[in-house]
Amino acid sequence: MVVLGIETTCDETAAAVVERPAVGRGRILSNIVLSQTDEHAAFGGVVPEIAARAHAETLDAIIARAMNDAGASFASLDAIAAASGPGLIGGLIVGLTTAKAIALVCGRPLIAVNHLEAHALTARLTDGVGFPYCLFLASGGHTQIVAVRGVGDYVRLGTTMDDAVGEAFDKTAKLLGLPYPGGPQVEKEAEGGNAGRFALPRPMLGKLNADFSLSGLKTALRLEAEKIAPIGAQDVRDLCASFQQAVIDVVADRLRCGLKMFRAQHGAPTALVAAGGVAANAQIRRVLQRVAFEAGTTLVVPPAELCTDNGAMIAWAGAERHAHGLHDTLDTAPRPRWPLAEVRAAQAALIPAPVAPEPPREGA
Ligand code: KG4
Ligand code: ZN
Repeated sequence: MVVLGIETTCDETAAAVVERPAVGRGRILSNIVLSQTDEHAAFGGVVPEIAARAHAETLDAIIARAMNDAGASFASLDAIAAASGPGLIGGLIVGLTTAKAIALVCGRPLIAVNHLEAHALTARLTDGVGFPYCLFLASGGHTQIVAVRGVGDYVRLGTTMDDAVGEAFDKTAKLLGLPYPGGPQVEKEAEGGNAGRFALPRPMLGKLNADFSLSGLKTALRLEAEKIAPIGAQDVRDLCASFQQAVIDVVADRLRCGLKMFRAQHGAPTALVAAGGVAANAQIRRVLQRVAFEAGTTLVVPPAELCTDNGAMIAWAGAERHAHGLHDTLDTAPRPRWPLAEVRAAQAALIPAPVAPEPPREGA
């Protein structure tokens, strides 16, 4: 099964062609990502209107390149998938409308993919991970611990009460005058810093649930920076290292709780899977490895370029849904707000009998 996937939820314009065999991991035939970072850098964050215009200007060429690199013709596709939420409405309209046009002209099914579901299923594309697994999804807009029980069957175990992990990295970077996007910059600065110099709080540590809270940490960092202003280059490195260590401690503690909840509610997970841009952080990966080992499971992290936003994950999620007969109609609307837990319910009315080699689990 060969599927074209389109990603335009935020500041990457991306398209990819992916093949899903009846069993096992997938094959990426092409994966083109055009980042808009330069266009937003001057503003210290993503400007929705600039993003939407950039998607509209470049998407056709990105799709043409993805099709060309894959050596695929539109007639050879089995389905067209587009991320239709959650995300910025302008970009969603561009991506979903383009996918609808291709689906209509080719007479192929449209699959409106939830961006978070795509992150959640990427480890099946890259590593063929079986259900059920424990997902740690940490990106610029989302921080969640999720039991992934099957395609369209997600149970949220924990989430953030305020900032997402990536957002906290981005805000820290902005505060310290580092360029956007902040995550990789903070990680780089932290390498040369002293993580023990500033005593920052570890919010939620020891709480019995698996929820996060990061806004207090961000505020504490600002107060420390203000105390020693004007800050020099080494101060920035020490602040970054102290911040990153606090995040690592919080992530480890919250995941330990999440994995305990997973075991109690769903049995042993096949793996701890990390996804989203934050999983590109080497220090965070290291602690995830340790937490997985302690919990008697293994860590699976897709390669960094598949952890950050891309079209291959959308194509794969589309292929997984197509394999279960989960299609969408051409009047499907983009959904700027679309929690993962609502994916199944949102699609339920459209579900015909499953045709997959791997039937959905109970209730999917
Ligand atoms: O998944 P993603 O590409 O886009 C969203 O859907 O948000 O994640 C982007 C987020 C940004 O907040 C970025 O700062 C963060 O992931 N990020 C990192 C690193 N690389 C990207 N955070 C910490 N360390 C990194 N190395
Ligand atoms: Zn994302």
